[in-house]
Amino acid sequence: MSQEIFHSSFPFILESGASLPNLQLAYTVHGQLNDKKDKVIWVIHALTGDADVLNWWSGLVGKDKYFDPSENYIVCANLLGSCYGSSSPLTLNSSTNQAFFYDFPHITTRDMAKALDLLRIHLNISNIHTLIGGSLGGQVALEWAYTLQDKVENAIVLASSAKASPWIIAFNESQRMAIESDCTWGELREDAGSKGLQAARAMAMISYRHPDNFLSNQSDNEEKTDGFRISSYLRYQGQKLSKRFDAFTYWTLTKAIDSHDLGRGRGGTKNALSHLSCQVLAVGIDKDLLYLKEESEFIARNVQNGEYKEIYSTYGHDAFLIEYEQLKNILNSFFTKNN
Ligand code: COA
Repeated sequence: MSQEIFHSSFPFILESGASLPNLQLAYTVHGQLNDKKDKVIWVIHALTGDADVLNWWSGLVGKDKYFDPSENYIVCANLLGSCYGSSSPLTLNSSTNQAFFYDFPHITTRDMAKALDLLRIHLNISNIHTLIGGSLGGQVALEWAYTLQDKVENAIVLASSAKASPWIIAFNESQRMAIESDCTWGELREDAGSKGLQAARAMAMISYRHPDNFLSNQSDNEEKTDGFRISSYLRYQGQKLSKRFDAFTYWTLTKAIDSHDLGRGRGGTKNALSHLSCQVLAVGIDKDLLYLKEESEFIARNVQNGEYKEIYSTYGHDAFLIEYEQLKNILNSFFTKNN
């Protein structure tokens, strides 16, 4: 991955009124911006994702894939607050000369969208053909589409919502409680709270799947009273995340998810959605237990030009990262109608 870093030369004013000096965003671009600049595909990653979209969405983006860099200009940036190269709790706080850690300001999905827009201007992109993201990425896509207005043609929002539900916030809050209960949380070191982060990831993994998925993939064949497969699976997933992610970033990004409300200060969610003039494809997943499919249906119903499609999968919320054939069929039918 050839990742680049965008540095803003101005302090970045957050929705809270706080200011973030030295804003930086890591990003990748694949393909060429054509003369008409009309083939820009902008992908927004989910909670623990990064700018390397060819890696984490390899079934959809890449050579000979649905979004092929030989035909499109594909941009993906690491979101504000994330630890993969953008301004985050682990980047340097110039006023203390050490990482921000616990002092990183509260950020919202609106702040994330605003930061992406600075990068868009820096890249000299006037129009985005397709903005696409799942989960947190879908929330940021909606926020950004709201402010982009006619600079975006299509917004594709997968397994996401216009406003964080109490259910989502509940999962996030309990995961932050797991981080808080780690006795290293409070220390000034990058791996503070890493055991708590592992527990948080295990809890999150339960919300990302449907019980039927664990039944088919993690059932034990032999009779036993302890040492279950699903137990080692969740522990493994927790350890795996803690090797590539930190509890500070997890805290910051889950708080941003909680903040998500397209309608805040805009007369409510329905009213805000009704101001979206681009084509919106909202994709729900029938067995998503985290972002319910009804939340995607709500988006499609309330925008000016909305369409709802569904993925059928026991992978639940994770299906947007796994069910490539269904995704491709859905995209095909959407673009056949709207191109
Ligand atoms: N005990 C220990 N490890 C186990 C296990 C068990 N019982 N069962 C599977 N594993 C390990 C496998 O060896 C494999 O390890 P590896 O990743 O090091 O190769 C891993 O678990 C496979 O995980 P699984 O969930 O079965 O993979 P998948 O193909 O179904 O899903 C991903 C792929 C990338 C979607 C998934 O692994 C993942 O990371 N999900 C979370 C992604 C996420 O953040 N989603 C939410 C976005 S908001």
